[in-house]
Amino acid sequence: MRKLIILAIAATMFAACSNQAKVQSDQVQSTKENFLDLARQRFAVREYAQTPVEQAKLDSILEAGRLAPTAKNVQPQHIYVLQSPDAIAKINELTRCAYGAPVVFLVCYDTDLVWSKDGHDTGDMDCSIVGTHMMLEATELGLGTCWVKWFDPAEVAAAFELPANHKPAFLMPCGYASENAKPSDYHFSRKPLSETVTYK
Ligand SMILES: Cc1cc2nc3c(=O)[nH]c(=O)nc-3n(C[C@H](O)[C@H](O)[C@H](O)COP(=O)(O)O)c2cc1C
Repeated sequence: MRKLIILAIAATMFAACSNQAKVQSDQVQSTKENFLDLARQRFAVREYAQTPVEQAKLDSILEAGRLAPTAKNVQPQHIYVLQSPDAIAKINELTRCAYGAPVVFLVCYDTDLVWSKDGHDTGDMDCSIVGTHMMLEATELGLGTCWVKWFDPAEVAAAFELPANHKPAFLMPCGYASENAKPSDYHFSRKPLSETVTYK
């Protein structure tokens, strides 16, 4: 009888472990598919509705950026959230690529903090990872974004009176896409992996 009880306990424990392993592998599978769906869903939005972006959504987007990895974890990014009528008018004068968005993130990095070696720093790389996290979180929240490099960093720094150590990396308009917004032809053009990947 005692042997039977021990056998039953062992069998229950084994079943629980293998169920747990299955749940974990299902979770890995479904997470991957959700991420690819999200990545496919995103496109550069170049026409925005004037609907304001809720503060809770801005908070989530900024939090997604905060979680990004940076070289030596120095977190050199500094993000200006341009949303006042004055700031939006100013950025529209400095770039044709704000596209009427109600919010424009001006993503900078701190040249005093950024990791550097042999005269090169990782500021653009760090900011790009932060920006990618933000962009995908915005997509997840039903918002549109566009990565924008079409501006003069010195002009933008002067117009917004940035401290000398805050170097602009890129702009990211953000808001609800207008009803007419649609992906450009570029969006549908991706090279096959055989052109961009080599296994060695
Ligand atoms: C580094 C970088 C700079 C970009 N600069 C601009 C820009 O100044 N203006 C603009 O309208 N789009 C800009 N884009 C958006 C790209 O044109 C767009 O992402 C690309 O054509 C693919 O289209 P999709 O984002 O809709 O998939 C930029 C994208 C990247 C990654």
